[in-house]
Formats: sequence, C-alpha cells, structure tokens
Amino acid sequence: MSLPRFTWSSDALPDRTMIDAFDRDGVLIIEGFVDADARHRLVERIDDLVDDFDPETVRTVFSTSEQSHAADTYFRESGDRIRFFLEEGALADGELTQPKSRVLNKIGHALHDLDPVFDGFSRMPALGRLARGLGQADPGLVQSMVIFKQPRIGGEVSLHQDATFLYTDPVSVIGFWFALEDADESNGCLYALPGGHTAGLQERFRYNASGDLVMEPVAAVDWDLDAAVPLVAPAGTLVVLHGLLPHRSGPNTSPRSRLAYTLHVVDRAASWSPDNWLKRADTMPVRGF
Ligand code: FE2
Repeated sequence: MSLPRFTWSSDALPDRTMIDAFDRDGVLIIEGFVDADARHRLVERIDDLVDDFDPETVRTVFSTSEQSHAADTYFRESGDRIRFFLEEGALADGELTQPKSRVLNKIGHALHDLDPVFDGFSRMPALGRLARGLGQADPGLVQSMVIFKQPRIGGEVSLHQDATFLYTDPVSVIGFWFALEDADESNGCLYALPGGHTAGLQERFRYNASGDLVMEPVAAVDWDLDAAVPLVAPAGTLVVLHGLLPHRSGPNTSPRSRLAYTLHVVDRAASWSPDNWLKRADTMPVRGF
C-alpha cells in the first residue's frame, strides 16, 4: 500500500483529511514541513554539539536490539540531559574506531529543553496545533533525539511502539520525526505497519519494584511484519507517528548519512506513568509549546 502524502500550511489547523488519515493509518507524512534554512540551522547546531563532545565521557554503547544499555546509568540519567550515544562497535579496546563525528548513534534526550536552537525549533506553534488537532488536550514535550544513522555503520532500530517507552494512561504519545536529510530504503528510512496502532500495546519498558529497567509484555499482538511499508522521506519531511504504531528503521548500508531529529509529545491531561524509564528532575517540569 502507499500512504498519502500531505503538504500542510502550518499557519492552518490540520484539516479533516489529515486527521482521518492519522486515525486510519497511525501515521502522517507531511512533505516540505521544515524549510531549508531551518534545516541548515539544526544541522549546524548538531555539528557544533559534536565538535564540543568529548568521547572520553562516553562509557556506553547504545543498541535497541539488545537491552544491554538498560543497566547503564549513563542512559538512565539522560532523560533530562544532553548525552551522546555511540554506535555498536564504535569502541575497540576503549578507543574510537572512527572519527567521533562518524561513531555517534544519537544525542538525547532533553535537547528541546536544554539547547536554545532545539528548544526554539521544537516549540514552533505549528507543532502544538498539530498535536492538539490530532487529539492531545495539553501537549507537553518529553523527549528529543538527534539520530545519526551513519553511512555504512548506522544500526537498525527494531520494531517497536513509542508508547512502550513513554507510557501515559490513556496512551497519548505522538512522535514527530523530522528528516534533516533524504531518507529512503538504502540509508535506513522508517518502516511502519499502517493501521497497526489499533491493535493495542505489546510491551512496556519500565522500572520494576526492584529498580531494574525491564521490558515487560502487556498483550500479545500478532503483527504482520510483511505489511511494513517504507516511509520514504525527502529532507524537510515531517513524519507523525501515533504512539501505538509499530515502526522500525533499517540499517544504513549506503555511503550517505540519514540524519533525523525526533520529538515526542504526550498529553499532560493523561497521567504520566511514574515507572517510565525517562526521569526528569523536579526542577524541569514538562513544558508545552
Ligand atoms: Fe520510535
């Protein structure tokens, strides 16, 4: 199946066609959402963050295919900080295997609060209108990530639902995924199961009573993995993901990078689950648009 593609004048409210498509498919693809100037500002800011990054401070290798990072304090504490995560295989005997600009998997998870450039971009009023138009009463920005998907070594992200990681009752999380560079099948674009958001939540990643981070089944869901469609996204595209939509991304086997920025927004009218992995200091309440 091919999904509809929208262009949206961000001065307007999302129209009925967009809302219906989101309710039906669990995903909206909005082309040309980020103009070239705004995109370049973000890319330049990412370059500066990478320049300032000291690899010696990193002691974890992030991989969602294994949950080995779960026990790592560096990850646990990153909910209200700006931290740098490496690709698997980036370190050999404690040394970087490539220049630091080529080994980063992602930066997260509070760029939207702590970095002025990302704060300004993430709080553009259009995103608030979009979140409200898609059903959130009181949207709040909880998580942000720069995802590098490096040429040749960018790892895959396995099939998941964002509500697994950012749970509210009722489920409310919406993912905004911005293509800062062209994303297609060869450099690790997103894939999703359109309509799969209606089948419920499969699992939760949360703290248990012992203080361990665990992946816990919620309900068995029979996903038709063959039905996944590539969400090809030219630079500047915004992909909006329902929190229950199963999605993944492939490895980057191409010589091209696939830089993206993601922002996750929950409805503050829903109840935030205190056992979520993502913790924020009391001095950093979740802010809206
Ligand atoms: Fe996701």
